[in-house]
Amino acid sequence: MILARSPSMMRNLARRWRSKNLTIGLVPTMGALHAGHASLIRRARRECDRVAVSIFVNPAQFGPNEDFARYPRSLPQDRRLCASCGADAVYHPGTQDVYPAGYRTFVEVEGLSSLLCGRFRPGHFRGVATVVLKLFQTVVPHRAYFGEKDFQQLAIIKRMSSDLHLPVKIVGCPTIREKDGLALSSRNAYLSPEERAQARRLYAGLSRGVERAAAAGAKPESVTQAVRSEILAIPGVSIDYVSLVDENTLEDAPRLSGRLRLLAAIRLGKTRLIDNVPVIC
Ligand code: PAF
Repeated sequence: MILARSPSMMRNLARRWRSKNLTIGLVPTMGALHAGHASLIRRARRECDRVAVSIFVNPAQFGPNEDFARYPRSLPQDRRLCASCGADAVYHPGTQDVYPAGYRTFVEVEGLSSLLCGRFRPGHFRGVATVVLKLFQTVVPHRAYFGEKDFQQLAIIKRMSSDLHLPVKIVGCPTIREKDGLALSSRNAYLSPEERAQARRLYAGLSRGVERAAAAGAKPESVTQAVRSEILAIPGVSIDYVSLVDENTLEDAPRLSGRLRLLAAIRLGKTRLIDNVPVIC
């Protein structure tokens, strides 16, 4: 497995692959890889001739009071996981490679970026869209793989790719969960044992919401209320939002019909957790 530490090295490698008509799959990550990332890499391995995993903790998507400095970094372990899942290359640029002095260009996906998590993390999705476009420019993938756990991120990247006619297929992949339902996330490492034990209630709440949606006379508000009651049983929790939205527009669903998504973001101690489930009515 090759380690490409600069955009030029990665671009040259991708050019060589493209010149042999090989299809390229990209799995963009910020490292601290877990079984959720492994499932994306394995899927890319099955569907593409060559697989690149990018590992870059992107400063542009963290707010001034967020966890950029303490975000877990574990390159040697991450490289082993990538190799064991069959990746051909890890792309690990430095911050100066991606954002050299004088850098001024950012991508804004309007509307979708200011809803849900965007209300609590201003500028976050601008940073995500910018870095993902830059990764696409360097790796030139045919297909790029993202987890549905970050459902809003996935919707924004699909929108950007369609709006900018990017020649890449965006593949959304199911969330991987712990046995008790907690969605895998690099940020789960921040949870204390007590918080970890309570964190399962986020998915339990969403599941309760799905059950409520199937009950007679259910309304969007009764569904979100069912989720809130389960989550509020966690000592010291605070809820950023619980929302039932249209899967494509991410706007609040006025009624229970069509393909909807139930999403929640909560704060447990110093850790912010997000999760979502489909609601098909
Ligand atoms: O989901 C992530 O890990 C990041 O937001 C991404 C897509 C790699 C962009 O930095």
